[in-house]
Amino acid sequence: MKFTSKELRNQWLNFYKERGHVDVGAVSLIGDGTTGVMFNVAGMQPLMPYLLGKAHPKGTRLCNVQGCVRTVDIDEVGDASHCTFFEMLGSWSLGDYFKKERTQWSYELLTQVLHFSPDRIAVTCFAGNEDVPRDEETARYRELSGIKKENIYFLPKKDNWWELERGPCGPDSEMFYITDKPACGPNCNPSCDCGRFVEVGNDVFMQYERISDNEYIPLKQKNVDTGWGLERLLVFLNNTGDVYKTDLFVDTIQYLEKAANLKYGVDEKTTRAMRIIADHTRTSVMLIGDENGILPSNIGAGYILRRLIRRAVRYANEIGIELLNIGEIAKIFIEKIYNESYPRLLEKEEYILTELNREIEKFNKALALGNKEFEKVIGGIERKNQFMRQSNPDYVDEKVINGKSAFRLFDTFGFPIEMTIEMAEERGYIVDKVGFDEAFRQHQELARSTSAGAFKGGLADDSEWTTRLHTACHLLLAGLRKLFGTHIEQKGSNITSERLRFDFNFDRKLTDEEVKQVEDFVNDAINKSIPVQKVEMMLRDAKAQGAYGIHKAEEDEVVSIYKIGDVDFQICGGPHANNTSELVNFKIAKQEAVSSGVRRIKAIINVK
Ligand code: ALA
Repeated sequence: MKFTSKELRNQWLNFYKERGHVDVGAVSLIGDGTTGVMFNVAGMQPLMPYLLGKAHPKGTRLCNVQGCVRTVDIDEVGDASHCTFFEMLGSWSLGDYFKKERTQWSYELLTQVLHFSPDRIAVTCFAGNEDVPRDEETARYRELSGIKKENIYFLPKKDNWWELERGPCGPDSEMFYITDKPACGPNCNPSCDCGRFVEVGNDVFMQYERISDNEYIPLKQKNVDTGWGLERLLVFLNNTGDVYKTDLFVDTIQYLEKAANLKYGVDEKTTRAMRIIADHTRTSVMLIGDENGILPSNIGAGYILRRLIRRAVRYANEIGIELLNIGEIAKIFIEKIYNESYPRLLEKEEYILTELNREIEKFNKALALGNKEFEKVIGGIERKNQFMRQSNPDYVDEKVINGKSAFRLFDTFGFPIEMTIEMAEERGYIVDKVGFDEAFRQHQELARSTSAGAFKGGLADDSEWTTRLHTACHLLLAGLRKLFGTHIEQKGSNITSERLRFDFNFDRKLTDEEVKQVEDFVNDAINKSIPVQKVEMMLRDAKAQGAYGIHKAEEDEVVSIYKIGDVDFQICGGPHANNTSELVNFKIAKQEAVSSGVRRIKAIINVK
């Protein structure tokens, strides 16, 4: 039986809906900062508060398909199975059913929906340790559900315990398909990597909270956290042996074959390059087009995005692909592959393509020069080695790119350090990463000391002036959205007693006419003496009424929103002026670029 990705998502959700689960949909891929990770790495991550005991507004049985981004294995991408973005098919019991129903349903799903032969299913259960007993209960239910006793394995904590750094966790029970490969020895079991067992899914019985590295406390409720990887399952069900041959990637690979006039799967270099381009473009589209979308930058999640795009550019270059084709691949993902499961991408298509192409262009210009510089560095080391060899027959060649050179490649040519390391490895070299870090630190210190004092009173305070400037920020954003569209979002702000500073996603200088239009919009609101009202309601209702803004709240949490007539309705903690007339007059004093795609406006009020 063959499955398309769209069918598999639907089958998953329907199976659980029929069993009383509510589809809670997917949340942003970008971490909200509360769990200490940059991206959402598992379906359970956004549900942490509910797994710990908070009541979920949609009940105790939930399911969804959640996008995840894991970039720890970014260097592995290029083989047949690793991806930086993947979708997790999830289902949860929040203190509702436990092991009996869970094992029964997993068995039904495997055999009736996915048509696994019962003889081919193996499962693992937690073998127990000094703190938590051996999970005989799950083993018994697995057997009752229909799994053969000889296919049930008990494995220790390193294999059968699921946890993040902190939060809800517990013993798990994984399910495997038994392939035709012979057992690798008498102790062959699902934890060995001989290939006999292929993991298909994981049921975690979350009964503990990890509160420090070695401390666990029992949870007041017993949960089940189930997660199956969509990509992996597709490979397996369709017997493609390669994630890039599933319907999620097949169009992209065909497009790349045509564009490069090369065949996928023939030589390793081309195949690897095509996989990297496909994977990195897909993840970049997802990150830029996310509800909390990010843009390439030199820090945090933005830096990961930059690395992905630049690495894709490098590999496109290697196999002779015109860079414009990367944008075409992005379109395939947006318009054809994820048009149903991620309709937001379609809404933001123009924005995604513009931002993606901007970073590609930017790097492309530097790439050729950077490559030359890289060759110069290697050439220099090789000449030195040759010279030393002549004078000393015992001389051992130096194969290290020093930190300063690596920093120059980063700073002047935009080569992410990881890329320089990768390029160096391909030539049998290593990079002095410690030296790079030191050069980076020195550079930052210099930058800090030269910019210090550029603004006096750089820290925000909450005097009456600043309160009014805060209201001016809201009006400014409303004006920018009116003029350029609702995709304009705040990317940062800072208020001193003298001025406001406001960053937003925009890629060019505003014309004088546009500056005037925005100023007029704000001054018009000021002249109308509109009261600024604080209202409170559940986030869900606020959004339904058109509220927007940066927040970390859950759908059912009460948030405050500041309403400025019909001019603006923004989620915000305040404080604000009582009436727009308090602002007297608004003027944009300066505009500048912060980073690619982010523009900064400095503005003042009350200058009459
Ligand atoms: N949270 C579990 C996992 O990611 C289901 O494997």
